[in-house]
Amino acid sequence: MVGSDASAQSEVLFENPFHIEDLQIFDAETMRDMLACSHAQLSSRMLADSLHNVSSALIMRIMQGVPEAQRDQFQQELQQPLSSEEIDQARNQTLNTLFWELIYWKTPELYEELTVGERLHEGIFQSIQSDLKDKVVLDAGAGSGRASFEYLRYGATRVHAVEPSPGLLRLLRKKIIDRGLEQSMFPAAGRFNKLPLADQCVDTALSCSAFTALEDQGGEAGLLELRRVTRPGGKIIIVWPRTEDHQWFGEHGFQYVSLPVQEEMCVHFRSFDSAVRCARLFYAHNPAVLRYLQQTHKPEIPFSIIGMNPPRDYFWLAV
Ligand SMILES: C[S@@+](CC[C@H](N)C(=O)[O-])C[C@H]1O[C@@H](n2cnc3c(N)ncnc32)[C@H](O)[C@@H]1O
Repeated sequence: MVGSDASAQSEVLFENPFHIEDLQIFDAETMRDMLACSHAQLSSRMLADSLHNVSSALIMRIMQGVPEAQRDQFQQELQQPLSSEEIDQARNQTLNTLFWELIYWKTPELYEELTVGERLHEGIFQSIQSDLKDKVVLDAGAGSGRASFEYLRYGATRVHAVEPSPGLLRLLRKKIIDRGLEQSMFPAAGRFNKLPLADQCVDTALSCSAFTALEDQGGEAGLLELRRVTRPGGKIIIVWPRTEDHQWFGEHGFQYVSLPVQEEMCVHFRSFDSAVRCARLFYAHNPAVLRYLQQTHKPEIPFSIIGMNPPRDYFWLAV
């Protein structure tokens, strides 16, 4: 069957660069959120199975994130006898599930290399300009600032850039200093469900390619927080939402805007080498991407080849 051939091939193509000990990078809050998320594929059973024969430092670290009520059961799962194949399988699943979080926390430079190429449709900022110009805004899940700097460019007076990954925050802080923007952009560590901001202190709360319906990436608690920090009459704007969350945003009263495109949108990498490196790492599940690069020898890939909705849409909600 074509489908199973394709998935077997992608299994072979994808090599997760992370090791189970890399999970030590996460702080307790992040680990707790990831384990508490009922929709997440990371179950405490899968995690426990992948932690056989790891360092005691890692076990202690993970334990800090396991909710009190689940600790006894987690301990028992850690003691279950497992074959080395079962442990390897659980590790692969865990590392694949946490792939993006590990990228943000462990290899932020690689994520930066990708986002430099994934340019957001200019029409998004033109269309929301009245919610940016002379406004105080929040960029939640700001990463290394791809959207945050655009908000300033479109006239925001202050941008509060909140991001949980220390590595991405470091890159963001460096850019702020390099560009002399210390008086207008304020980076801070934080998560959607506990934003480090006072009630009603921003005119517009934005999140670009970060807020989702999943509880560990926003969800109901995250939306309540975005509402809390936005002043009445302000807006919440979710840029480049996941396609699978469209219904959730609609059910929560958001309006959808998709900008027209003249010609197909592409990811534009710094160089051909960078395109190949990123394709091997980020799009390895999709062999068509590497094939496309080998055929064209250009440092760009259409979003349609990647199989992704291009960054040209947003949801908005009046508060
Ligand atoms: C796809 S990146 C987008 C980053 C940035 N907004 C951009 O457009 O480049 C998703 C970001 O959301 C952050 N993130 C993940 N979970 C989060 C949470 N619970 N609260 C806040 N940010 C979160 C990640 O650390 C990462 O920086």
